[in-house]
Amino acid sequence: SAEVLLNRTDIAAALTGIQDPTAAQAPERLAATQAELARVPTIARRAVESVGLKAGPGYLLGESSVTAHPDADLFEFAVTDRSPALAGRLATAYAREFTLYQSDLEQQQIRSALSDISRRLHVLAVAGQQASPLYTDLVQRRTQLTTLQALQTAGSAVVRDAVPGVKVAPRVFRNVVLALAIGLILGIGLGFLYDALDPRVWSAPEAAASLGLPLLGRIPRLKKGSSLVMAADPHSRGAEAFRMLSANIDFADEEKRARTILVTSAISGEGKSTTTANLAIALARKGHHVVVVDLDLRGPSLDGFFSLNGQPGLTDVALGRIDLEEAISGARKPRNGTDADTRPAWRQGDPGGVLEVVPAGPVSFEPGEFVTRPAVGSIIRQLGTRADFVLIDSAPMLSAGDPAVLSRYVDAAIVVVRLDGVRQGTLAELRRSLDTLHCEKLGVIVTLADEGERYGTRYSGQRKPPAGQAAWRSSVRQIKRL
Ligand SMILES: Nc1ncnc2c1ncn2[C@@H]1O[C@H](COP(=O)(O)OP(=O)(O)OP(=O)(O)O)[C@@H](O)[C@H]1O
Ligand SMILES: [Mg+2]
Repeated sequence: SAEVLLNRTDIAAALTGIQDPTAAQAPERLAATQAELARVPTIARRAVESVGLKAGPGYLLGESSVTAHPDADLFEFAVTDRSPALAGRLATAYAREFTLYQSDLEQQQIRSALSDISRRLHVLAVAGQQASPLYTDLVQRRTQLTTLQALQTAGSAVVRDAVPGVKVAPRVFRNVVLALAIGLILGIGLGFLYDALDPRVWSAPEAAASLGLPLLGRIPRLKKGSSLVMAADPHSRGAEAFRMLSANIDFADEEKRARTILVTSAISGEGKSTTTANLAIALARKGHHVVVVDLDLRGPSLDGFFSLNGQPGLTDVALGRIDLEEAISGARKPRNGTDADTRPAWRQGDPGGVLEVVPAGPVSFEPGEFVTRPAVGSIIRQLGTRADFVLIDSAPMLSAGDPAVLSRYVDAAIVVVRLDGVRQGTLAELRRSLDTLHCEKLGVIVTLADEGERYGTRYSGQRKPPAGQAAWRSSVRQIKRL
């Protein structure tokens, strides 16, 4: 930017000898007027021409500003251009052209005043009134004006040329930060959109239908700290759900002749181990001989359910360290019920059934590779000849290939789905994974069923989801239909 000093010579005062009182009172107004004057296209055109730019005055007016200094008689002429050097040159030229223009204006004023006085002097002379006081006064004024004309400096002067401009745009850092922020907001927005377009499933029948499998059982939310509800609280709603599940499995088993059953899920934490352990007890209490095996070598947990921590297990057998019999924990309940039942709670109360547990044992190898060993298959087959049901707790399907490998050794698989808003997309993916299994698919067990059903029962018309959620979900459906 260039700076211009405003010279506040009052021409009118010089002409009339009368000081304009408002000029002294309102210097800001004078400055503002001058700043406005600087915006006339003539000045801009001359400035653009003087730097040899092929552009109209509009270009300069659009890319420049003229600001009056608040505390001094100074103007700042600022110009923005792609080229900092050109911006500097333009600002200086603009300031110069302004001072020239302003000086021209003032000269013009003096010239017209002088010609006016000359004309009046001529009229007086023709009338022979050279001796009149008016004539003398006019002559005096003409002298003053001629002196003023000779002395007249520009009404303003450029006091500082513009140096090549500083870069004000493009501001790369600011733009990058802005782009990142916008990208982030857009990304989050798209995430929400994706979320909205991939609705969650809240009903057990809907989940089963999505997987194309029968619904075997609905396990409600169990009380905290009572995961092994079949032993801890056999009269609870949770235990009842496992009894119903065991009845359904019994029925499905008769149809499909499944003995060894793999329990899997889409992702971890859906309740495989909890469900397997309780189901094993429920089946045993119905009089079956049940062996429950921990083959979730990525997160073994059955030993914890049955208080067998540190016991040798399946891995020891597969590695030939111990015999299968040594890895099986559990005993047949004495038939004559007269003996005091001193067994752990989970083994009490089963009328003649047997529950045996094969914990995982120490895992010091890659689980994915381990399950492919022939020894694992042979252990499962051996257990299958020994019991009515062999329930095998395994890893989640979408994060491990173990269930697919183990499916070669088993008769059937059951899939556990945690019904607290599982995504339609996850179920679709799970369905594709289930298609790769080499065994029968018995059906689906949903956990946390009551929570899902709270919303899911809208289909049966008993209870409705909160109004907001219903509206939201129905609008999402509409979007999907579109
Ligand atoms: N029906 C249920 N009600 C309430 N909580 C449950 C229920 N089933 C399982 N849980 C809880 O959910 C968590 C995960 O359960 P669990 O370990 O049985 O799942 P999992 O599928 O075996 O997980 P992982 O894949 O990690 O082995 C545990 O804290 C468990 O107590
Ligand atoms: Mg588990």
